[in-house]
Amino acid sequence: MNPGETAASAATIDFEALFAAAMRVQPRAYAPYSRFRVGAAILADDGIVYPGCNVENAAYPSGSCAEQSAISAMIAGGATRIAAILVVGDGDVLVTPCGACRQRIREFAPPATPVAIAGPRGIRQMFSLAELLPASFGPDNLRR
Ligand code: THU
Repeated sequence: MNPGETAASAATIDFEALFAAAMRVQPRAYAPYSRFRVGAAILADDGIVYPGCNVENAAYPSGSCAEQSAISAMIAGGATRIAAILVVGDGDVLVTPCGACRQRIREFAPPATPVAIAGPRGIRQMFSLAELLPASFGPDNLRR
């Protein structure tokens, strides 16, 4: 699959609903150390939107990213596939998922999956997961 195919499948996805869900949880982020609040929302294969926010920790590496929290919510909710994911954050620079979260998303999403990056006023840029994580290693690589 390629990014062009992503655009076609993205046409059927309600990104406004993902944006609203991510915006709802962004202010609830626990980010006393970075003061950088991030919201994420996953549209899963069951049609449900699973939100998440970053949750930091006094032991800094023990904190969780918003995407990670949304994936945990999706798994706890009983879904296993990501149809699309949106991330919202503040600032001039696009808040794209960190490297570790790109890999976490890949576990549950094929390379063509749309990843929408938003700011407070809406979606700023669309990517496919393949654009953010090219030549990825995923569950299929372990199949023999
Ligand atoms: N963060 C996320 O939750 N998602 C991203 O896509 C980028 C960064 C969080 C981690 C940390 O709590 C704060 O933002 C600053 O890095």
